[in-house]
Amino acid sequence: MSNLPWGTSKVLTDEEFFNRTQEISNLTNLLNSTSENNAPDILVTGIRGVGKTVLLNKIKQFMDENYLVVYMDFSVSQTYQKNKMSLKGLYDFYYQKIIEEAHLKGLNTLKNHINKFFKTNNFKLKEVVVASAFDISIPIPIIGTERDLERYRDFVFRLPQEIYDNNKDKIDGMIIIIDEFQVIKELNTYLESFLWNFRGYVTEQRNVAYILSGSMGLQDNLISEIAGQNGAFGGRMLTININPFSKQTTKNYLTERAPELKFTQEGFERFYKCTSGIPYYINIFARQLPANRELDENNVIDAFDNNISFIVSHLINEWNRLTTKEKDIIIALIDSPLKRIDLARKLNVKSGSLSDKLNKLQNLDLIRFAGGEYGISEKLLKRWLEIEYSQKGIYPYRF
Ligand SMILES: Nc1ncnc2c1ncn2[C@@H]1O[C@H](COP(=O)(O)OP(=O)(O)O)[C@@H](O)[C@H]1O
Ligand SMILES: [Mg+2]
Repeated sequence: MSNLPWGTSKVLTDEEFFNRTQEISNLTNLLNSTSENNAPDILVTGIRGVGKTVLLNKIKQFMDENYLVVYMDFSVSQTYQKNKMSLKGLYDFYYQKIIEEAHLKGLNTLKNHINKFFKTNNFKLKEVVVASAFDISIPIPIIGTERDLERYRDFVFRLPQEIYDNNKDKIDGMIIIIDEFQVIKELNTYLESFLWNFRGYVTEQRNVAYILSGSMGLQDNLISEIAGQNGAFGGRMLTININPFSKQTTKNYLTERAPELKFTQEGFERFYKCTSGIPYYINIFARQLPANRELDENNVIDAFDNNISFIVSHLINEWNRLTTKEKDIIIALIDSPLKRIDLARKLNVKSGSLSDKLNKLQNLDLIRFAGGEYGISEKLLKRWLEIEYSQKGIYPYRF
């Protein structure tokens, strides 16, 4: 069948990766000022599935030669995975990732420096084997007091500049890429202090560039908390938004990479509408379409509706993790966006009882607050729910 990548690939080959030349040249130009002691701090935003992760992995490949580039995905940290998001857990993860990458690159990982730090602070340690493939064990401290935690934070967040200073002869600088950064929202009350602390370290490091990224809608509060004028980084952080493929790009992409798909003009228009130009959907959907058969508008609509639970499987995963009350909220918003008070009335609950749930759904970017109303932001989730309902006469609370 077609040569299009899977929707779940995180690293694409050069044959699979399409376009984004502008974004790549912007990012690499900015990052290269790191070698002139002028490391930039960048926020890469964009909706789910638009291609941030694969782009960042490409950037890593481009920059790897002269820099130590650490790519880490906060959403795979244990602390997040186990639903026990904590500062300590994030520091552990951050520290492990940096050591792991430095080790891979054969750099001086400051073993003595690390041991000395733990010794002078009297930390009890447990050894963690990072991954058997790397065959390194890293001492991780057991933290007793608030003060210990601060010292540990200091140590962890200073490590990148420390590593650069000790390896100047081998690298031009360091680049730290943190993907799925938005999961720090789950630090709840610690979020603000985390951001401000982190900023303190980040902005003083002249040889370490930072890229923060994650699936954040443009109106996400976190973006202004990070990069807004009054946000933690003030005006210092450069924001680059990754957009879906335009209609023309999508057309070029399919013509080049999936020539076996024979769209009529209307068929293609509909395909673009269904996928909104989001590469994730483009790839998954295109892979479902029959080769070498004319695809008119109706063929495309039928194929889409027939395959929708496959196309939106990542959203169904999220859906399955929601509580019944959270599902109720989404279902109540299917027909139209609602003011909070009307939503509460529709659900027959007190408006105040909705706060936590609405926050959580917004954090997941499943719903959005705009113009005084809450609405579903994932239009394909909405479409899937509608189709399920029309076929089964009931919404899929358990799918
Ligand atoms: N430049 C691209 N060329 C081809 N396919 C892409 C491109 N960008 C994204 N994709 C497709 O979209 C999927 C999701 O991309 P990803 O980077 O994980 O999105 P995000 O991190 O923004 O949620 C990829 O697995 C791939 O199938
Ligand atoms: Mg991603």
